[in-house]
Amino acid sequence: MRPAKDFFAPLAVGAPAPVHEVPARPARMIHFFDPSNPKMAAKVPDMVGTVDVLLGNLEDAVKAESKEAAREGLVRIGRDTDFGEHTQLWTRVNALDSPWVLDDLTTLVTEIGDTLDVIMVPKVQGPEDIHYVDRLLAQLEAKAGIERPILVHAILETARGVANVEEICGASPRMQGISLGPADLAADRRMKTTRVGGGHPGYLVRQDPVAGADGTPDYAGERPHFQQDLWHYTIARMVDACAMHGIFPYYGPFGDIKDTVACEDQFRNAFLLGCVGTWTLHPVQVDIAKRVFSPTAEDVAHARRVKEAMGDGTGAVMLDGKMEDDASLKQCLVILELADRLAA
Ligand code: GLV
Ligand code: MG
Repeated sequence: MRPAKDFFAPLAVGAPAPVHEVPARPARMIHFFDPSNPKMAAKVPDMVGTVDVLLGNLEDAVKAESKEAAREGLVRIGRDTDFGEHTQLWTRVNALDSPWVLDDLTTLVTEIGDTLDVIMVPKVQGPEDIHYVDRLLAQLEAKAGIERPILVHAILETARGVANVEEICGASPRMQGISLGPADLAADRRMKTTRVGGGHPGYLVRQDPVAGADGTPDYAGERPHFQQDLWHYTIARMVDACAMHGIFPYYGPFGDIKDTVACEDQFRNAFLLGCVGTWTLHPVQVDIAKRVFSPTAEDVAHARRVKEAMGDGTGAVMLDGKMEDDASLKQCLVILELADRLAA
């Protein structure tokens, strides 16, 4: 059996105790690679220890003719690589209505089931999808003699999935977390975007115009406007559902690799709203994710001061002219707990 690395209760404050443990170290980045691409596969051993999760992707972005090569490549990597104490191995299998998923699950659990930490399931529509995967995994694990259950992570990328997010989160004790899948979700909702995640310059609020002489709005001068987060609603919903069930919420992909500024903004919005991590598609995004999804030294120092000042944790104190109380202390404890886990 694998050593019990990095496994204990989840982050969510006040969440019900999980039926079995989920990975303790919240993965700040789930780094995607294509196991059918020999150049990418060759880099995997060098990335161990530098990222929290390496995910061998079998689904979208892998050509139909390369599906088998990707599956086989992942089996080879799972067998030949020592992932050490701090990097987990995940996979994203093909969708449940595809011709490949049964072979994905059967082969991976049988061949590398005791190396694989989490299976990401795309396009999850409702709890029935998780029940199906859960049952299948239980059978395959029993047959292969795997003692530690493989966990499940769902991607929220259909309108029906969003409508069912609470039930999905609670569908199995295997549930580790949920990611937003903005590209598929945009298509499924018939949004009019064409990007993989991130915002859109057209989705904005503009400051009211100056009234012209005859009362007509005058937009001639430069009026400040602010781009809005297209994903706010879904991320907030997902975060609540995950907190309710004690599992981890993640942002998903950001496709514009060169726009590191917008990428950092999107990651930070998700972090502030409660996400523990994100997907990374390129090494440049790994550094951004590490920075954004780890509390800053200032946040940690402030949280420690509040904790200290709050003594037994009840009542109210003034710190730097601001009122702190039981509830602000709880927020500070979230920051301190995260910092502790990342340092472990
Ligand atoms: C990810 O799979 C997405 O569709 O955004
Ligand atoms: Mg998708």
